[in-house]
Amino acid sequence: MFFQWLKQYLPRSLYARAALILIMPVVALQLLVTIVFIKRDLEDVTTQMTTTVLREVSLLRQQAGETADRDLYLHRLEPFLAPLTMTARFVAQDAPRPQDELGWDEFSGRVVRDKLRHELEGFVAVKFPVTREFLLYLDTPAGILELGVDRRRLTAAAPHQLIVTMVFFGFLMTVISFVYMRNQLRPIKKLADVAQAFGRGRNLPYSPRGATEVRVAGSAFLDMRGRIERQIEQRTLMLSGVSHDLRTPLTRLKLSLAMIDEDEAEPMLRDVSEMQALLDAFLDFSRGASTGEPEPVDPQKLAASVVEDWRRQNKDVMLGELSGAGTVPLRAQSMRRALENLISNAVRYGTRARVSVTLTEKSMRLRVEDDGPGIPAAQRGDAVRPFARLDPARNQDLGSGVGLGLAIVADIARAHGGMLRLGKSKELGGLQADIVIGR
Ligand SMILES: Nc1ncnc2c1ncn2[C@@H]1O[C@H](COP(=O)(O)OP(=O)(O)OP(=O)(O)O)[C@@H](O)[C@H]1O
Ligand SMILES: [Mg+2]
Repeated sequence: MFFQWLKQYLPRSLYARAALILIMPVVALQLLVTIVFIKRDLEDVTTQMTTTVLREVSLLRQQAGETADRDLYLHRLEPFLAPLTMTARFVAQDAPRPQDELGWDEFSGRVVRDKLRHELEGFVAVKFPVTREFLLYLDTPAGILELGVDRRRLTAAAPHQLIVTMVFFGFLMTVISFVYMRNQLRPIKKLADVAQAFGRGRNLPYSPRGATEVRVAGSAFLDMRGRIERQIEQRTLMLSGVSHDLRTPLTRLKLSLAMIDEDEAEPMLRDVSEMQALLDAFLDFSRGASTGEPEPVDPQKLAASVVEDWRRQNKDVMLGELSGAGTVPLRAQSMRRALENLISNAVRYGTRARVSVTLTEKSMRLRVEDDGPGIPAAQRGDAVRPFARLDPARNQDLGSGVGLGLAIVADIARAHGGMLRLGKSKELGGLQADIVIGR
């Protein structure tokens, strides 16, 4: 409960947390030492020193005796003042009675005052002016006497020196530790960056570094990355190999069919063409989404040019809302293919399509909407699977798709570290397909 509440105030990054963990104990320790030091030692020392001054004051009083004559009084004190480094004078008779004067930061001054007030007979007031003097006012038979005592005789000299030294070295040590700590954290940060980049389809160079555990995690990541890459490669090789190898016999078949009587060959030729289209789709799919390195692309321009291409083919495709501006690191070729696929679905299953682009600080969204029947929520997962075609009755005469279109789009979105999201278009009523990618 308590920690849950605390969590929202804690920094998120590893560096900041490490810094906090380093600094907290140092600050706590310094506070503790400062408080204990002031409370105990400073007070004790001050009390002891005040006792000494107290004794000296009683000695002076004894020497002065009970005379009410001010000059005589001062004369009697005279021989003792210099050795005790004190000064003495009387407060003018008509002057107001002196009051305590203590700055808010006079911690030790307060101790002195309390001690004197309790133990000094005839105590009137103390003053701690900014100068190095401390003034003590006493009732004597001759009037109120002002004794000036050197401040250093009462309280420890420059007690804050210890605290200043401690804070300074504490700070210095923390900085040094943080520099070392940072070197320890750097490999973790690097691993996180490389893993994130790989998730977004980019391969950054990386070699395990740092403490043993980080190295182990790093090597595990490299193994994993290698295995995933090998798998992608194998898939690509296999699919493209199969499709490529099948093309030659298909072409031969086509040629042979051309020799046969046309009426008889017609349906067979159609089958062969369909097989060829299928193979093309396979090849397309197997080429994969992650070819080439991403480069800064203006998604609005990309969308506009794709839409333009469709319009030239007299399809009802329009450019909807464009918000935000800027470039996003994309593989233009694959992103174009993804948009093409979505639009081709939209105009195949609907009649109108609308493409909109939303760019924010953190993400990019390419949206394709249509006025077709849409895909029921329960079937959206299936629709994205390779070779999945929904409800054949529904799109019987819409030409034969292979069922790879959405799978390719999802693949491309994932290779960019994003996702494909299907929904229902609010305005057009058909499918709404969003490609969402973090920037
Ligand atoms: N805009 C859409 N409106 C309604 N249904 C759709 C829409 N897009 C896709 N679907 C459904 O999802 C299924 C899968 O789509 P996908 O694009 O993956 O394959 P396809 O269009 O059948 O074939 P391909 O795109 O490979 O030629 C389609 O068969 C169709 O039933
Ligand atoms: Mg399709």
